[in-house]
Amino acid sequence: MRHLLDIESTSVEDILKILDTAEIFLKVLDQPSKKLPTLKGKTVLLMFLEPSTRTQISFEMAAKRLSADTVSFSPSRSSMQKGETLLDTLLNLQAMEIDAIVVRATSPGTPHFLAKHTKAKVINAGDGAHEHPTQALLDAFTVRKHLGRLEGLKILIVGDILHSRVARSNLFLWRKFNCEVYFSGPPTLVPKEFEKLGAKIVELDEYIDKVDVIMALRLQRERMEGSFISSQREYRMFWGITSERLRRIPESTLIMHPGPVNWGMEMDWEVNERRNTVILDQVRNGVAVRMSVLYHLLAREK
Ligand code: CP
Repeated sequence: MRHLLDIESTSVEDILKILDTAEIFLKVLDQPSKKLPTLKGKTVLLMFLEPSTRTQISFEMAAKRLSADTVSFSPSRSSMQKGETLLDTLLNLQAMEIDAIVVRATSPGTPHFLAKHTKAKVINAGDGAHEHPTQALLDAFTVRKHLGRLEGLKILIVGDILHSRVARSNLFLWRKFNCEVYFSGPPTLVPKEFEKLGAKIVELDEYIDKVDVIMALRLQRERMEGSFISSQREYRMFWGITSERLRRIPESTLIMHPGPVNWGMEMDWEVNERRNTVILDQVRNGVAVRMSVLYHLLAREK
């Protein structure tokens, strides 16, 4: 694996390698001493051009748990404010000998662009509405941990599909494992085009009790121009995982959300009381999965 730019072009073999190694790292994270010397001497640049809590912190933790050095690039305090281009910024940072760049960006394709111009390994930490590969990997890891398999599952993704890189990466991943992927949400936010990629667009209330996994997504207001929903109240009523809907969801169904959650809109707080609500386990597993991605790109590069 040269970079991790998207799930679409990542092989099933590489996905399984990442998930299997993450199992080992998760056990390490359970030990009193959580640090391994594996990436000693390597430097990981965290280039977050868009806000993040989970992805940024867990990549930083993952790198540090493997003894890599981390440096953070903050665009608002950088010379990009003086007009320096992304390419010039990259070339200058590269001159300081970085081994990997974890990049989050508003523009789709930014990680692919960086990968063309650097010898460092590039990891996509979310590029616009395109892809968020490590989120899909940690989602798959969490599903396998709780349900014991990846193949042949029924996955229902509900919410703002149009603007969601998480939905796209998950769709690509689950289709590789012969799963059925259902999309549901306001028609303005669930484009028919996704059916060409292998998703089936469905009514939430018809499928809520027939799937193995329900993944709710955040309304990505920062990517919306104009009005896509009539009101938050209506959104909750038709597409929220409400207390009423919760009663129809089988206990065995995993309930997931990549975060951050708009509580009371995409989900009622009561969802947290379910044993099979795994939102914080997704976050926990994210560190192990990102350790695995760094390991496969940096420790095994020869
Ligand atoms: N799931 C996710 O990408 O969260 P952050 O935006 O906080 O990183």
